[in-house]
Amino acid sequence: MILVFGKTGQLARELAADENVTCLGRDQADLSNPAACAAAIRQAAPEAVINAAAYTAVDKAESEEALATVINGAAPGAMAAACAQAGIPFVTVSTDYVFDGSGEAPWQPGDATAPVNAYGCSKLAGEELVSAAGGTYAVLRTSWVVSAHGNNFVKTMLRLGKERERLTIVADQIGAPTPARDIA
Ligand SMILES: NC(=O)c1ccc[n+]([C@@H]2O[C@H](COP(=O)([O-])OP(=O)(O)OC[C@H]3O[C@@H](n4cnc5c(N)ncnc54)[C@H](OP(=O)(O)O)[C@@H]3O)[C@@H](O)[C@H]2O)c1
Repeated sequence: MILVFGKTGQLARELAADENVTCLGRDQADLSNPAACAAAIRQAAPEAVINAAAYTAVDKAESEEALATVINGAAPGAMAAACAQAGIPFVTVSTDYVFDGSGEAPWQPGDATAPVNAYGCSKLAGEELVSAAGGTYAVLRTSWVVSAHGNNFVKTMLRLGKERERLTIVADQIGAPTPARDIA
């Protein structure tokens, strides 16, 4: 059995389609309580763990940085430590926001990180704690996640396109829309 943190999010819902997956929602494991997440892993005794939950409200993270850092930093760190102790692999999902957004070439995994906002800092903290936990792990950085569920850029544009005659959107941001199903 593969244990997935997250149940309602875009990625979690795609992962849930696999019969070997057991998803834990916020009511079963709240990432604001990292010790409880580690305990949930010990109790479930899975073959592997995927963290598909996160604090994803990029703008709101500026005023809730401490909470975002627990959810995106300490929680995956505690999950990775529990997996290392159990000798099972751990996968967590991160973001292009660990970079500073300069340049025009696609980012490479080894490029220097330099987050410019609270969300990016919180996700980088998670990456660092996961890699320091000493187990077998993968950090998968993605961007612009889209799916039929939840909120995403494509759905927002479709909604606004119906409501408004003319849309005003930034023209200096380049990204790679990534279907949640492909990530799963
Ligand atoms: N969305 C993007 O464009 C994007 C871009 C780059 C990277 N990523 C990363 O990709 C991963 C998946 O993103 P997504 O688009 O699937 O996210 P999402 O749709 O926003 O879903 C986030 C999930 O995290 C859960 N969650 C939030 N706070 C929690 C808490 N305190 N305890 C337990 N669960 C909590 C949410 O549950 P509730 O429903 O209970 O709130 C929800 O299931 C995340 O690591 C994200 O940082 C996303």
